[in-house]
Amino acid sequence: MEMTGPMDVTGREFEDLAAHARQAYLRYSFTRGTDQEVAFLAEVLDLRPGMRVLDVGCGPGRHAHALAERGMEVVGVDIAAAFLAAAGPGRWVRGDARRLPFFPGSFDAAISLCQGGFGLLGGPDDELVLVQMAEAVKKGGRVAVSAFSAYFAVRHLEPGETFDAGHGVNHERAEVRDPEGQVETFDLWTTCFTPRELRLMAAAAGLQVTGLWSVRPGEYRQRPPDLDYQEFLVTATV
Ligand SMILES: C[S@@+](CC[C@H](N)C(=O)[O-])C[C@H]1O[C@@H](n2cnc3c(N)ncnc32)[C@H](O)[C@@H]1O
Repeated sequence: MEMTGPMDVTGREFEDLAAHARQAYLRYSFTRGTDQEVAFLAEVLDLRPGMRVLDVGCGPGRHAHALAERGMEVVGVDIAAAFLAAAGPGRWVRGDARRLPFFPGSFDAAISLCQGGFGLLGGPDDELVLVQMAEAVKKGGRVAVSAFSAYFAVRHLEPGETFDAGHGVNHERAEVRDPEGQVETFDLWTTCFTPRELRLMAAAAGLQVTGLWSVRPGEYRQRPPDLDYQEFLVTATV
């Protein structure tokens, strides 16, 4: 079964959503670009076999698996037990991106993609995710975070979606299918960002930004920020 449509899986109900979607998450079309995304990240972050990589908000582990196939030692952390159960063999830790359960400097790199915690929490909690990622990575290590674009959200607001201009938060009611095709509706809130905000937040977290590009699923490239791509990808060093 193929799934398309809004699944900017975001919000405050991840346990419920994950318990409903499980492996069906990987049928959504936005998950198809994993290999391209990982190939791009491996190049720009200079990820090499043997490196320790942390995937924050890993979901069912699609990027973690692809990085492990390239020889990296990957640990995935996610708040939703049902997504980790759906991830299969691997090194998974149930945890909150706001309080990462790792010693400082444990990893060579940390990634958080497709709103893997960052952008789901709102206000200072999103900043905390960047701080926690920066701490988990050793000095000179790399960080990559994708974030939903405020420009795109406003310009391409879909029927039924609302955008809170005061907080930059997009709200939608999204229909999510389980592996048997049963539909449930979830409230999804996504905090959206401008490149300027992302640079300021990264700097406040002690990160040195090395790149900030407009991307969309399966199209991770060094494309200057624009108004019509869903996400921004920030790369940085610690
Ligand atoms: C849209 S999914 C992205 C999953 C994965 N990164 C990907 O690209 O497919 C968002 C993930 O963030 C996780 N998440 C949400 N809030 C979190 C938090 N506070 N700490 C850790 N993970 C969180 C959700 O459980 C979900 O797996």
